Amino acid sequence: MNEEWNTIDRGARFLKERLGARPDVHLVLGSGLGGVADGLEDSRAVRFDEVPGWTSSTVDGHAGELRRGRIAGVEVLLQMGRIHLYEGHTAAQVVRPIRVGIAYGAKTIILTNAAGAINEAFRAGDLMMIEDHLNLTGVNPLTGPNNDARGERFPDMTNLYCSNLRATALNLATDMGITLRSGVYAGVNGPSYETPSEVQMMAQMGVDAVGMSTVLEAIAARHMGARICGISCITNQAASVKGAPLSHDEVKVFAAKASDDMIRLLAAILGTQEE
Ligand code: HPA
Repeated sequence: MNEEWNTIDRGARFLKERLGARPDVHLVLGSGLGGVADGLEDSRAVRFDEVPGWTSSTVDGHAGELRRGRIAGVEVLLQMGRIHLYEGHTAAQVVRPIRVGIAYGAKTIILTNAAGAINEAFRAGDLMMIEDHLNLTGVNPLTGPNNDARGERFPDMTNLYCSNLRATALNLATDMGITLRSGVYAGVNGPSYETPSEVQMMAQMGVDAVGMSTVLEAIAARHMGARICGISCITNQAASVKGAPLSHDEVKVFAAKASDDMIRLLAAILGTQEE
């Protein structure tokens, strides 16, 4: 475990050298949401595979790059693309970028993702504020010896997705005329999409949207004491809700469609952040 934290500290030192002073916010962009980077001022970039100890993301639609700059006056570290369990990476590898971002100085983590709707009222192109999550991946990034200097052995998971940030975002969305749903996100391993029976099970469990990321990152960020905000971009209705097969292309098309709203909303949320 200490070896892992040494890797994280090396990553944070590397980012400081290459990208400059600490960011206030670490913003993770999911599939098809790269357009957020267009609004970044004074941008400097590194590729994932340049950061000591990192692997690059292999998924289509994920750039695998970190950019440091300013959006709406806020110092931001933009993570374009992420590491997924379904690529064969471990939970520790999946959360390494988040831990490095926090070690680099970020106090707030904004996690965005693409997700399938379980809630039948949701439509492709909607945005959903994550109220809470179900970790259905079967793994936890905190498994193994704990480093007490970095976080508690048994961290509390109530109000995991900061209620103040959620309220702020919902108010902003209303003012901006953006439909922002609110709901429970279930994180699964993937890469297969859900079977109709799995969708039915999740509906019974109170899940509103399902995706293949975010939950491990949120757990690791909470462990280190960061404030967390999560927003899903609903790219499709999950298998049985829709009654037709799903494709990754469809996910990308709807992510692009919702990305204008997501970009405006993220900029507005960032505009309210002062450290
Ligand atoms: N299921 C799981 N992950 C997803 C989906 C889905 O329907 N859409 C986008 N990511």
